[in-house]
Parts: sequence; C-alpha cells; structure tokens
Amino acid sequence: MSHRSRVAILLLAAVTACEPLASPRADSAGDGNPPTPGGPLLFLTARQQLGFRQGRALFQTTFSPATGLGPLFNARSCAECHEQPVVGGVGDEVETHATAYHGGVCDDLARIGGPVIQDSVTPALHAALGIDKEPVPPEATAVGRRTTPSLLGFGLLDAVPDSELAALADPDDRNGDGISGRLNRLPDGRLGRFGRKAQIATLREFTSGAFINEMGITSPPEPHEQTIRDTPLPPGVDPTPDPELEQAGLDATDAFVKLLAPPPPTLSSFIELQGRKLFATAGCTGCHVPLLHTGPNPVRALSNTTVAAYTDLLLHDMGPELADICLGQAEPAEFRTEPLMGVQYKEAFLHDGRAPSIEAAIQLHAGEAAGARDRFLGLSPQERAALLRFVSGL
Ligand code: HEC
Ligand code: HEC
Repeated sequence: MSHRSRVAILLLAAVTACEPLASPRADSAGDGNPPTPGGPLLFLTARQQLGFRQGRALFQTTFSPATGLGPLFNARSCAECHEQPVVGGVGDEVETHATAYHGGVCDDLARIGGPVIQDSVTPALHAALGIDKEPVPPEATAVGRRTTPSLLGFGLLDAVPDSELAALADPDDRNGDGISGRLNRLPDGRLGRFGRKAQIATLREFTSGAFINEMGITSPPEPHEQTIRDTPLPPGVDPTPDPELEQAGLDATDAFVKLLAPPPPTLSSFIELQGRKLFATAGCTGCHVPLLHTGPNPVRALSNTTVAAYTDLLLHDMGPELADICLGQAEPAEFRTEPLMGVQYKEAFLHDGRAPSIEAAIQLHAGEAAGARDRFLGLSPQERAALLRFVSGL
C-alpha cells in the first residue's frame, strides 16, 4: 500500500470515528444555537463544515514512523497537545525553544534545526545515533519554555487586516501612556501575529510548521526533515517518502484550525460587568484590546466581523524577569499580548506556565505593563476579585 493511500485511509477512519460532530446539534451550524466549545463557527457552508470535520480528524490522527512520524518529534498528533477541554484547546505539554541573540540581532538557528527543540526520537534514530532527544545546540544563548495555548477562535485573528494592527502600534509611545506596542515585521514585510513572540504571519504557515516541528511530518511547504545541528540524518532512519502529508491534508487541518469557533460567552453577572469596567480603568485594555475587526474574507463566517480576543497581537517589553529567547524582531523581554480569549481553560499562565493563577500572572507583569499592574494592586480586595472573576470567564 502506498503511503498516500495509508494516510487517506487513516483520514477516512478518523472521520468516521468522530460521528458526534456529524450531528447537527453538536455542529450547531446555521441553526442559531451558540457554538459548543470546540465546534465550528456559525453559518458555514456544507463544504466548509465537511472541511472542518476532515481537518479535525487529521488534527486527531496519531502518526507513527510508518506514516511519517519523526525521526525527531515532540508528540504524535496535534490533539495530543491541543486537547483540553476540547480538541483544539490548551494542553499541559511544555516545550523548549532556543535561539541566539547577539548585539541586538536574533538568530533563530534555522540552519541547525530551528528554534523548536524536539524531546523525542523514533526507535530507528535512537538505534542509529543512541540519542533520546535533540540536544539544545551550544550556539543557543537562551532557552524558552512554552505551554500549549488554545486555538479556539484563532481563525478570526488570522482574518484581522495588517492595517488594524499597524494602527494599534505605538513604538515611540507618542500617546505617553507608557505602553509602546511594536509590530514583529518579518523580513518579507508581512506582520507576525502567531506564537508567543508573534513570529509567524498566518495560521496556514503555523500549521505546516507545527507538522514538521512537532511531529516531523513533511508537507509541500516544509519538504525537509528536522535535523540535529547540521548533521545529515543517517540513512534508513526516515523511510517514508516526502512529502509525508499531502497538500489536501494540510488544507483540511488549516480549515479546522481557522473555523474553530471562539469559546462561547460565559453569563455576565453584575460582578463580572464591574470587573470588565475595572479591567479598562486599570489600563489592561492598553494591550489586551477587547475587540479586533476582521476584513473582507472569502469565508463568510470570518468576513467583516469582530473577535473578542483581548489582544493587540503586538509585542510589548514585559521586563527582565519574564525575558527568554528572541525571535525575528522580538527581543528577549518582548512578548505578544497573550489573547485572553480561552484563558478560562488554562491552569497555568504566562508563556512558560510559571504563574499558577491569573492573579499571579498579573503580579508578574512588568516593563510596559508595570502601570496597569500597580493600578490592579491598588484596587480594593473586592474590586480585585471582580476583575479576576471577569478575566477568568474569558
Ligand atoms: C508538542 C505539543 C504540540 C503539538 C503536537 C502541537 N502544538 Fe501547536 N502549539 C504548541 C505550543 C507549545 C505552542 C506555542 C508556541 C509559541 O508560543 O511559539 C503552540 C502554538 C500553536 C499555534 C499558534 C497559537 C498562538 O498562540 O499564536 C497554532 C496555530 C498551533 N499551535 C497549531 C498546531 C497544529 C495545527 C498542530 C498539529 C499539526 C499543533 N499545533 C501541534 C504545542 C503543540
Ligand atoms: C503592556 C501590555 C500589557 C498590559 C497593560 C497588560 N498585559 Fe496582560 N499580558 C501582556 C503580555 C505581553 C502577556 C504575555 C506574557 C507572557 O506570556 O509572559 C500578558 C499575559 C497576561 C495574562 C496571562 C494569559 C495567559 O494565557 O497565560 C493575563 C491573565 C493577563 N495578561 C492579564 C492582564 C490584566 C488583568 C491586566 C491589567 C491589570 C494586564 N494583563 C495588562 C501584556 C499586557
């Protein structure tokens, strides 16, 4: 059996395995009911719903060395990490990234295996090299730990035009509020917005990058396996022909991620409404911008609408305590404002999960966020509780 037909069969088996999603109730598309967590956006066409289901199947497909896994990898499926409380959500996996920063210039170590360090190898690579994981290269000047974020609603973030983000940027702090959001502009001029350092411009690229970086699955845009530094892989450790995933599989996974509905709104009580006001008066909205607007989009559900993501997708200097790696133009202390959309699913907060609670995460805000942090700390205990109640429902 050719590898392609094997993946096709896997895909088919997985689609049939997730029957519940096929029921119009769980789908809730077009019937006016609010989307269930992990379900698709409302008002999708039948074709888009099918793409979503096929993509969800691939997102859940467990790869093995025979279907392309490895030889270096972090997990066997997307859903092994993005899994709580639904497929596409958060996860307890924490991975390692490493880059080198020299005199203000960032080197993502692309020529020696890239910033994502793989913590597992296939039995064949273990047998050939006697290693259990990719070592952090000695060229790296810093290591960053990264928790697995929720992807719910991220297609809407992908659909926000660059011009909206550029209008929010204030690199020289002209409005004097102490906050100077910066764009992570890529060498080709596009704006980065995904990943903790806003290092990737589109969800489509993040998805093909995740296949290769997290699972060692090659695809048409990422045709080469990950290597250990610049050493070529020993012969025979990667017998599956490249690309291990064809374009159609990538397109389906991309559709699933793009069409995932944002978390359904939680009920707003008086105290949450009070918390929302305090969130604004404390200055949290200086970075966690409540609403972004999408532009015209070929997918109607993503077109000219809003997303309550509570982010500006810009880079902010968060002070030396949180600093770790650089990526693109993002300096070690700069992080993209983490969308608070989906924070209700998290148990550990900030990029490396070091904060055990939302309150602890706020206390660790420094740099450009020091003013907002201090205003939060200056609130009465009752006001702080209201603000925390509001944030924990997002
Ligand atoms: C080993 C665990 C793991 C696996 C497997 C994994 N991811 Fe992720 N994912 C992460 C982590 C960790 C991040 C945060 C990376 C960062 O901050 O730079 C992330 C971030 C993302 C983002 C960007 C979210 C954001 O906040 O901007 C997308 C999109 C994504 N993953 C999609 C996928 C897809 C699609 C797959 C399967 C092809 C996948 N992931 C597999 C751990 C994983
Ligand atoms: C100067 C910009 C800025 C301001 C102002 C700001 N934040 Fe943040 N916030 C960030 C950035 C950047 C991160 C990501 C930091 C990281 O991952 O280490 C973040 C992360 C968080 C997180 C953790 C999210 C997660 O998923 O781990 C919470 C909660 C949060 N902010 C709440 C608040 C609250 C509440 C306020 C107001 C008191 C506030 N922030 C003010 C920029 C800001």
